[in-house]
Amino acid sequence: MAYECILTETDGAVAVITLNRPDALNAFNRQLMDELTDAVKKFEADDAIGCMVLTGSEKAFAAGADIKEMASKDYIDVLSEDFITANWEEVSRTRKPIIAAVGGYALGGGCELALMCDFIIAGDNAKFGQPEISIGAMPGAGGTQRLARFIGKSKAMEMCLTGRMMDAEEAERCGLVSRIVPKGELREEAIRVAKQIAGFSRPIVTLTKESVNRAYETTLSEGVRFERRVFHSIFAFEDQKEGMAAFAEKRKPVFKNR
Ligand code: CAA
Repeated sequence: MAYECILTETDGAVAVITLNRPDALNAFNRQLMDELTDAVKKFEADDAIGCMVLTGSEKAFAAGADIKEMASKDYIDVLSEDFITANWEEVSRTRKPIIAAVGGYALGGGCELALMCDFIIAGDNAKFGQPEISIGAMPGAGGTQRLARFIGKSKAMEMCLTGRMMDAEEAERCGLVSRIVPKGELREEAIRVAKQIAGFSRPIVTLTKESVNRAYETTLSEGVRFERRVFHSIFAFEDQKEGMAAFAEKRKPVFKNR
């Protein structure tokens, strides 16, 4: 598939997907979401890639669903095309880690897409919001659910009911983003972190990601039981033997992803 609304590149074991519809502040039209889905699936299947970075421009990660494309849809249209479910959620399904590097606006679906990633590194100019209420809509790509889980009911409710934007400082304070970096260093820093993750044992990274995500799907005791079973299983990996031997021998481990 040739891409027109995104750019993709690789840097070692890291794949970088850049949302690229500058004239619409990277608003998600159907073509962009089809391309994003295709790219994520492609990198998921590529053994050379250990981690992905999803980013936008300095002005906008993404300003949400394409309002102009969406405006004329009626109920039967959105139901029959399975709007959003059909091609928005690959980012939340991929087993490889995916980091959102958010500079500028992450609004509506843009905020929701960032929330589907494993964690968010924010540029100091980032602005998060769910402004759908102001255009006679509501979040439809998981915003009401993920925000409530990640930052708590009060802030989630206020954001969704008023459309108020949150700046990077507030987003870090309430745990929406893992940390803030100067906007000019955002891309480089996200790639640096992604390279670090891609350098660890791939199967153990996969299981660790799955285990953290389990925390949002189950009770604490079931989640801890899940973690314990997975933790026990890593003792079957060569990489566990290598990692611990390398520590004792004061050398860098050489992981074989086995
Ligand atoms: N859809 C379509 N086009 C959009 C867009 C969107 N979500 N956001 C911005 N654009 C377009 C603008 O129409 C404009 O195009 P023209 O030059 O052709 O007029 C261009 O991008 C630049 O935008 P602005 O001139 O508005 O830029 P600004 O700097 O003055 O304002 C902004 C920036 C505050 C982000 C403003 O563009 C804005 O409010 N955008 C809409 C944000 C929004 O409501 N997002 C939610 C969408 S609904 C959704 O996402 C549903 C869901 O949950 C799945």
